[in-house]
Amino acid sequence: MFDPKIYSDRRGRLKELLSDGLVLLLGNNDVPMNYTDNTYHFRQDSSFLYYFGLDFQGLAGIIDIDKGDEILFGNDVEIEDIIWMGPQVSLKENAAKVGCTQTAPYRELFAHISKAISLGRKIHFLPPYRGENKLLLQELLGIHPSKQKEYSSLELVKAVIAMRSVKDAGEVAEIKKACAIGYDMHVTAMKMAMPGTWEQKIAGTLEGIASSQGSASAYPIILSQHGETLHNHSHAEILREGKLMVVDAGAESLMHYASDFTRTAPVGGKFTTQQREIYDIVLAANNHATSLSKAGTTYLSIHLAAAEVIASGLKELGIMKGDVKDAVKNGAHALFFPHGLGHMMGLDVHDMEDLGQIYVGYDDEIRPVDQFGTAYLRLGKKLESGNVITNEPGIYFIPALIDKWKAENINTDFINFEKLQAYRDFGGIRLEDDLLITATGSEILGERVPITPEEIEATVGKK
Ligand code: GLY
Ligand code: MN
Repeated sequence: MFDPKIYSDRRGRLKELLSDGLVLLLGNNDVPMNYTDNTYHFRQDSSFLYYFGLDFQGLAGIIDIDKGDEILFGNDVEIEDIIWMGPQVSLKENAAKVGCTQTAPYRELFAHISKAISLGRKIHFLPPYRGENKLLLQELLGIHPSKQKEYSSLELVKAVIAMRSVKDAGEVAEIKKACAIGYDMHVTAMKMAMPGTWEQKIAGTLEGIASSQGSASAYPIILSQHGETLHNHSHAEILREGKLMVVDAGAESLMHYASDFTRTAPVGGKFTTQQREIYDIVLAANNHATSLSKAGTTYLSIHLAAAEVIASGLKELGIMKGDVKDAVKNGAHALFFPHGLGHMMGLDVHDMEDLGQIYVGYDDEIRPVDQFGTAYLRLGKKLESGNVITNEPGIYFIPALIDKWKAENINTDFINFEKLQAYRDFGGIRLEDDLLITATGSEILGERVPITPEEIEATVGKK
């Protein structure tokens, strides 16, 4: 937990950013896995964590813009809770840890909100994403879950995004802790990437590293020889010599800040010439994107610059043809790079995605592009000092997509479909680092996970 003043300053700043009314921030509760008492791993809501810092169930916060009140609603434990959970500190003591002096029993939240409604006061709430909180909001506000997103407060969404997008030194330090765990996960995966190893064994080992050093994995691990499937969550295969293993895995620090790295390694430790040629292009795209990343530059322009590196590299190999800039303008690179270059990262791995990606990644100046490939770019707007983002270009050979483009004559001026035959079983390569944006450039967060082909080859199979 940060210093109490950090949380009270954040709530104070939020009050300055909003015009009037009150802010209702709901914490998360346990979600049953198969029956009420057997629950999924608890994860607090990230905006609640940001403003109220407390990492347990049964809480809600109100920040009153007009009156200045900051009230934490929750229940003090009773003897039965102590029997099952051990001694607990009081709500008042917990509130003090986050600089909050006003507390009230949870049931009073209902009366508090009803009174505000009866007075016609504006109640700002964030778009809910969990069923339980949708039901609670329905009970509190009388708004059907299907309408809650529409009635959520855009003013609050924008204020929260403005604040959470710029990480302070304490947050960056937490992200670096998550990166250190991520480093350990990736180096371990590389060491284990030997023929005959079950993907699940490696994925399970990584889960163990994440939860033994931090909170847990920051998202479901992607670990597969079928890297051409972008988010492949199957770990069923046995590793085979000649294949590439893509690992997209990150950890949460104990305070729930994320890391998000991707590396691709040749099973057995030696890239084939074909793999090495494609790998070098993805690495060049990654390095180029890092070199361009700085405050004031749009991430859309960096995404397109990375796409040009990819198109130009594939042209050199004879897989693409024609003018590189025209190819990218026409979206031809997206046959191989069909996703965005990256996204914001912080308390959520796709930071603040629950608040609406359009507001996190775009603004009035930079609007989303609807062309296939670039349409998946989650962050297009100008970078700001203090942003933490991912840089994750990739090249994939997706047989179904290649067949579709060929059959429909899509971008035939820029793609050499004959040449592509030799790559049908290639799989995919993605290389992802996490960057802190500064006024003059960017910093790769954490020790950089081995990334040059030489570093990767030296790590695979190492004891
Ligand atoms: N690490 C998964 C993703 O960025 O979508
Ligand atoms: Mn990512």
